[in-house]
Amino acid sequence: MSETIEINDKFTDEEKYRELIPQMETLLSEDDFTVTTLSNFAAALKQTFSKVSWAGFYLKKGDYLYLGPFQGKVACTRIKIGQGVCGTSAFKKVTLIVPDVDKFPGHIACDSFSRSEIVVPLVKNDELYGVLDLDSTSYSSFNETDKKYLERLGQLVLEKIDCARSVI
Ligand code: SME
Repeated sequence: MSETIEINDKFTDEEKYRELIPQMETLLSEDDFTVTTLSNFAAALKQTFSKVSWAGFYLKKGDYLYLGPFQGKVACTRIKIGQGVCGTSAFKKVTLIVPDVDKFPGHIACDSFSRSEIVVPLVKNDELYGVLDLDSTSYSSFNETDKKYLERLGQLVLEKIDCARSVI
């Protein structure tokens, strides 16, 4: 089994995502524990995109999202659904692209250097499992290309993990 991700640094973001998806298919296995799958997924995104300063998961339990596997600086451990970018994305079950986090009312600043963010809800059969959160220390780092491919990658994660078993 391949346990590496190799993406050409010189590719455009779109080309990187196109390369990443089949490699993720190979990397992530239904036989692994959910925590293993989420950990390697976060690492793969962080190592592929230099614009990403933080990549990871917040997982739903009750009315809160709890910090899951991630790559980047230490982060807040609990977010109420409906609060911050992650909680709003979870509440609305929609992807949020935030070009300037200071302009998002209620943004939760885990890293004072974070400038932009994208949050993708993980939804299967209308049920929310958590969110995938990517941060950047530059303004406007994320766009519709990221949204399109991260939503696809989010679905791939949900296919690879056992959604019936709670991780937290
Ligand atoms: N900024 C997020 C909190 C999580 S950190 O970015 C890792 C938010 O407002 O929900």
